[in-house]
Amino acid sequence: MPKPSYHILVCTNKRPPGHPRGSCGESGSEAVLEKLSMGIEQKMLFGKAIVSSSSCLGPCSIGPVVIVYPDGVWYSKVKPEDVDEILDQHIGQGQKVERLEIPDELWG
Ligand code: FES
Repeated sequence: MPKPSYHILVCTNKRPPGHPRGSCGESGSEAVLEKLSMGIEQKMLFGKAIVSSSSCLGPCSIGPVVIVYPDGVWYSKVKPEDVDEILDQHIGQGQKVERLEIPDELWG
């Protein structure tokens, strides 16, 4: 297997319903993870990108949170229907999906 160029992390941390911090798991991140995994296979990106689940990454209230390394691009509120764009545009062409990126102002 070739060394992958990209590593995609998906937060799948789950907190109980009604928890004040919310969680990516509660916001549907498992479906995002599954679609990314299937998409990598379907688009023949295996070897170029791998995807892993992650515990909490921090910005829980705007999940599901997805990070693409080595670019260090953080995406928020990712839905399964956003996955093709991430795979085609970011992984395929090296261009981040700006509409999904967490804005700089959010970081303290
Ligand atoms: S639960 Fe996903 S970032 Fe905290």
